[in-house]
Formats: sequence, C-alpha cells, structure tokens
Amino acid sequence: MRKIKPFAIERYFSRYEFSARYLLSCSDCEPYAMADILEMADPEIRKLWDNLSLSYTETTGHPLLRDAIAATYDGIGPEDVLVMAPEEAIFLAMHALLSPGDHVVCTFPGYQSLYEIARSIGCELSFWKADEAWGWEFCVQDLAELVRKDTRLVIANFPHNPTGFVPSQKQYSEIIDLTKAANAYLFSDEMYRCLEFESRQTLPAACTRYENAVSLSGLSKAYGLPGLRTGWLATRNQDVRDRVSRLRDYTTICGSAPGEILSIIALHSRDRILGDQLSRVRKNAGLVASFVSGFDQFLQLSPAMGGSICFPRVLSHTDTTRFCKDLVEETGIMLVPSSLFDYGDRHVRIGFGREDLPQVLDRFGAYLADRYRDNR
Ligand SMILES: Cc1ncc(COP(=O)(O)O)c(C=O)c1O
Repeated sequence: MRKIKPFAIERYFSRYEFSARYLLSCSDCEPYAMADILEMADPEIRKLWDNLSLSYTETTGHPLLRDAIAATYDGIGPEDVLVMAPEEAIFLAMHALLSPGDHVVCTFPGYQSLYEIARSIGCELSFWKADEAWGWEFCVQDLAELVRKDTRLVIANFPHNPTGFVPSQKQYSEIIDLTKAANAYLFSDEMYRCLEFESRQTLPAACTRYENAVSLSGLSKAYGLPGLRTGWLATRNQDVRDRVSRLRDYTTICGSAPGEILSIIALHSRDRILGDQLSRVRKNAGLVASFVSGFDQFLQLSPAMGGSICFPRVLSHTDTTRFCKDLVEETGIMLVPSSLFDYGDRHVRIGFGREDLPQVLDRFGAYLADRYRDNR
C-alpha cells in the first residue's frame, strides 16, 4: 500500500467535534442514550445483556445480530453478513476487491475513504460527479461514459454524503445494469438508507439485486448509534466475504461484546428508531429550507432528498474554509467547508439530524444577520 492521504473531514471532526459548542454539520442522527436502548430490550435479550461475558466474540458477528441484520433485507441470509465498524468495512472491502492498476469509478464529491483507499492501493480513479444545477443529480449517462470493459469496481453512495441526492428507482436499476454489463463489482454505501424523505424513494439494497454487489450499512447514521461502532457488509458473493474475513484478522478481529448486544436490541426496535429519526430529519430538512430562503443572498440550496445532510452554496463567500473558521471561533458553531471534500471553497455541509437544530440555526442566523447586515 502506498502512503494514504489524511482523511480531511475526520481530522476536522477530531479537532472540533468535542470542542465546538454547536454542531451544525454532523452526519449522524440524534444519538440515543444507553438507558433508552436497554429499555427497548425484551426479557430474553435483557438476560443476554445481564449475563454477558466480556470475552472475544465471533469474528463474523453474534449469530443473533447477523439474524437481525439479515432480516432487514429481502433474500439475504445471516451467512451473507459480516459485522464490523463501518469505516473498517470500507477499508477492508477495498483491499479485498482491488489491486494496483484496477480501474475504479466513484461518486464525487463524497466520503473520502470511498475513493482514497482505492487511490492508495494504486488504482486508476474516475469520478462520477454530481451536478448541482440538476439538484445534485448523478447522471446515469455520465456513468455510462466512465465505465469501461476493464472497470473493476463502481462505488456509489445513496442517499449521498454530502448532497443528500437519491436516484429514482429507474436510475438505480440502470446503475446496476451498467455495472453488471461491465462485469464489475458494485460497492454500495447505504449508511443513510431508510432516511429518504418519501418512503417510495427508498432503494432496494444493492446486495439484493446483484450477486457481485456489496452493501455497506450500519447503525451510525440513520439509527443514531455511532458510538456502538456497528456496521456490516452484506453480499451474496462468498469469495468476497472470505477475502474480507481474512483481512479482518489484521484489524479488529471481532466486534465489541457489549456493542453487539446493544446492536441486537436496536435492530429489534428498528421501526421505532428509524421512525423517530426519519420524522426528525424530515422536520429539520424543512427548517433548513426555510432558513436558507430567509438568507437567500448568502445561501442557495439544492435540497437533499434523503439522509441527514445537505450541501448549500455560500453566495457571499468564495472562501468557505475561512468562513467556517471565523464562524466556529466567533460563535462555537461548527460547519464543514467543501474544501474538506476536495470540492472547491464555495459550499458548506449542514447536518440536520440533531434535536437542537432549531436553536443552532437561530444562532447561525443571528451571526449572519449581524455580520452581513449591510448586504441584506
Ligand atoms: C457515506 C459514509 N460511509 C461510511 C461512513 C463511516 O461510518 P462510521 O464513521 O460510523 O465508521 C460515513 C461516516 O460519516 C459516511 O458518511
């Protein structure tokens, strides 16, 4: 492996996430307290929790956890699932699937590890770019022009970080068909799946549609449980699963015993948790839209269709890195500038999955009104 570049957004979060007072850019939904999760446990699982031995755990994940994960898909069995931390899953899947010189197509802008790991392996990268003028659409025709006969892997992420774009069912089928026709693997990052604002927009998981697709999901974003560090890969391709498992022996080997039990409880209460998070992001997405329209001289937004983040353009600034730095230093409000996505300096990422969003927007609004009063 060549030297890998620093993960810009993660470095930024490590600097500000626990020091800034108001977080306006988090991608995870409102986190639950452990007591709230334990209160959802049925008596059987509660017994597992109370008698839990803090020994090593099964390398593929607790059988009940894999059952609960498999139950979230159509046509996927527990044997198709490998449990690990989401970011670890990206790292290991890329190393399992890719070799130097492979051609890889990846959605862009995006979560850096989705393409940076491929780059560090020495792959040839082509970026499938979102078009802001078309509501951040990823045009399928553009993908058709990028995919080649020798493309090894297509990497997609819908609902998309940072724009919130979700393709239609028809576009999604075309993406899968194109990947199949090239005989390429598909890595589908579905961390924000089930947070689509309209339920008909929820796409089928890629692993249920194509045997060479690997779906990434987990409890960090839509479930509001990032501290559990529970994610998983689901794929019907046994060879891919074997290759990932062999690599995992060199990272964490197996999951955390308490994290697994809490994850089982959360998945057993999936409808309740996802229902709560979805109603919050829907309400908050509306608040962000009215906020932006109240400051339309400063901000312009192609709204998200799902997920917990959006990517407005800052009209009044050509240097959003500076803007975000001033903002956090003067008010304690943390926003993420687009430079961290290697996507120029004209956008910021707003996260709207948190309960305190209305109060943080009020503070942000007061700052804008005060600082740019003369421009209004
Ligand atoms: C698109 C996407 N994939 C994967 C991850 C990794 O999740 P985790 O931080 O829980 O490992 C993130 C986190 O921000 C993400 O946004």
